[in-house]
Amino acid sequence: MGLAYSKLVIKAESQYIRQPSAMWGSKNGKVLDRSEPHAIFDVGKGSKYVLFDSKGVGLVNTHTIRCKLYLYSNMSLYTTNGPITITCHKRIAPYLEQEVKELGFTVEETFVTGVRLIGTINDCIRLNLNLRCASQVLYSLKKFEANTPDDVYNNLVAYPWENILPDPGYFSVTSNVLNPTINNTMFANLRVKDAIVDRLREKRGTRPSTGSELTGAVIHLFWKNEQAEVFVDTSGDSLARHGYRKIPGRAPMLEALAAATILATRWDRVSPFVNPMCGSGTVAIEAALIATNTRPGLFRLNYAFMHLQGYDEAVYLKEMETLDKQIIDVPGLCIIATDYSDMAIVSARKNAVAAGVADLIKFSVCDFEDTEVPQGAGGIMFMNPEYGERLGEESELEVTYKRIGDFMKKKCGGYFGYIFTGNLELAKKIGLKAKRRIEFYTSIIDCRLMEYELYDGSRRTMHHQDDKV
Ligand SMILES: C[S@@+](CC[C@H](N)C(=O)[O-])C[C@H]1O[C@@H](n2cnc3c(N)ncnc32)[C@H](O)[C@@H]1O
Repeated sequence: MGLAYSKLVIKAESQYIRQPSAMWGSKNGKVLDRSEPHAIFDVGKGSKYVLFDSKGVGLVNTHTIRCKLYLYSNMSLYTTNGPITITCHKRIAPYLEQEVKELGFTVEETFVTGVRLIGTINDCIRLNLNLRCASQVLYSLKKFEANTPDDVYNNLVAYPWENILPDPGYFSVTSNVLNPTINNTMFANLRVKDAIVDRLREKRGTRPSTGSELTGAVIHLFWKNEQAEVFVDTSGDSLARHGYRKIPGRAPMLEALAAATILATRWDRVSPFVNPMCGSGTVAIEAALIATNTRPGLFRLNYAFMHLQGYDEAVYLKEMETLDKQIIDVPGLCIIATDYSDMAIVSARKNAVAAGVADLIKFSVCDFEDTEVPQGAGGIMFMNPEYGERLGEESELEVTYKRIGDFMKKKCGGYFGYIFTGNLELAKKIGLKAKRRIEFYTSIIDCRLMEYELYDGSRRTMHHQDDKV
């Protein structure tokens, strides 16, 4: 911060105020209760620094001034620009980039598993609440060179963690390590944790509590070769799960992936969205949430940014209020979801209720071929069939994929058809020429979202190609 605090003149202001709950400090080494009223002091040059208990007015000494400066530096983290990395699952970064730009941010770089931009932790709050395709929103604290775990420790024990982590508090450490000296990432996590604990114990005289549950503050280490970077993970549990789904069903899609695949389609968010083989309903539910501009932040109550020193709940509540106001009504929105399993439809309906979109989706139990496809205006038909991960399943599925092709030809004229599959050989059995093959990835499988332009009766120009997709 570069402030010469020994030269500052301290004088108390007349007005005492109650600060937001996360604003706190210590007086003469004693930690103040967060709910105690605090006063504002003018510390010269027109700057205002926030501290302390009204009873401490006459007792301000160098020690308390130093505490103020810590607090100021901590508060500025929420409002000072720094590098932000937003991670996502492989191949969904283009859709994440689109979302981030739509929120008004400038994306500096897009890479395979995320995007980079500049912003504050208050910006991170907004990003956490709004993004459908993200996994983690990371705010960079420090970059350094490290060849060994001891280098990591030495760099981090010198970092002022007392400005970041509240006392008392709980934190956990996660890491992404690609370094030849580390074959067990748990060891890297442990060195990070040791450094933070040792620093805090030295500064505060107490040991913070730590653990692997991502329910409090989270510190993340990225270490590739000799380059290390340490972040505040402002998300905690992954954002890729959107929180509403209670019953997973058979081979459910991850919500962030489902959202990204929908953003990859040509859907205008108004025309019919037909989703046979809906399983637990993820795709239909995400479609309803996208059409109504309902953001994932509305379903989740805990984020790691809430457990950092200086957290201002008012910023979060204001963003929640904005999200609530932004929800739009789409008159005549038609989302149809079917599955031949009645259990799947029971789960999908419950999940849609949890997401608050049950009244926007028409569910029914039927073979995919019997799904109602509204005629006239065109729309989107989106299917995620099984792709036969077990031996012997494939021959049965070949018939299903061929039937999917026939269904699209016969019933989906005027629509764009999308088939999301992890089996490119089976996809060939659809027998129609794909207009686009958009690359995706589930946790382990290379997948494609096949796009078919399905002309109506008057323009039946589709090609039959059994060996080409
Ligand atoms: C891979 S799962 C879909 C998962 C879904 N995307 C989700 O996120 O939950 C495939 C679904 O297709 C359904 N299914 C398979 N064959 C079907 C058929 N002939 N007609 C209708 N549904 C079928 C299964 O019951 C299963 O729920």
